[in-house]
Amino acid sequence: MNDTPLPVDFSRTTLTELMVPSYANFGGKIHGGVLLSLMDKVAYACASKHAGNYCVTVSVDEVEFLQPVEIGNLVHLKASINHVGNTSLVVGIQVLAENIKDHSVKHTNTSYFTMVAKDDDGKLTKVPPLLLQSLEDVRRFLEAIKRKKLKSEWKKKMHAEKTNFLPDADVNMLKGQRCIIELRGEDDQYNHLFG
Ligand SMILES: CC(C)(COP(=O)(O)OP(=O)(O)OC[C@H]1O[C@@H](n2cnc3c(N)ncnc32)[C@H](O)[C@@H]1OP(=O)(O)O)[C@@H](O)C(=O)NCCC(=O)NCCS
Repeated sequence: MNDTPLPVDFSRTTLTELMVPSYANFGGKIHGGVLLSLMDKVAYACASKHAGNYCVTVSVDEVEFLQPVEIGNLVHLKASINHVGNTSLVVGIQVLAENIKDHSVKHTNTSYFTMVAKDDDGKLTKVPPLLLQSLEDVRRFLEAIKRKKLKSEWKKKMHAEKTNFLPDADVNMLKGQRCIIELRGEDDQYNHLFG
């Protein structure tokens, strides 16, 4: 592994793809899964270029499709390295959908892919440091650290929620929810809690 820092621009990658009819769902809009696959592809290209090794996806954060993408749009996926750790890299991906006829552009989502680099034997390998050359680079690097910290705290809390589940403790949260509870089998002893 080369320890020479590489600038964000070194691996900045844009993938552009025409949205053909076979990508559409029954509502005539582009499948979210098609966009996710393209995002994974551009994240892979960007991360592997920085790492100088092939990378695999570990986790995907903040996937929210804010606006539908239409058949015939040109989708531009802009990827850049936001953060590097030892073996991991966070790739920020902005997805833009362009109307070819009037050239209007919609921002459909920004997501963050964490990838790790692997060597030829499939073992995790160190990635070069990131050279930050603008305040925007610094902001994104710091934001990735904060996102990682918040996610780790959130995961711990959710794990505690799962392991400490007591049916009667959170029963009030179910008031007004659109569900009917009719427990079966050995769980039917708890039906009185939800009556
Ligand atoms: C990714 C993988 C190697 C991590 O294994 P692990 O035993 O947790 O390894 P480590 O704890 O040493 O973590 C390696 C790096 O990944 C990061 N990482 C691990 N799990 C993570 C998660 N859920 N989210 C973000 N980063 C994560 C660690 O922080 C560490 O980063 P660093 O080296 O920069 O400090 C393992 O989970 C794996 O092989 N997953 C399958 C990946 C794959 O095949 N993806 C393709 C889609 S199926």
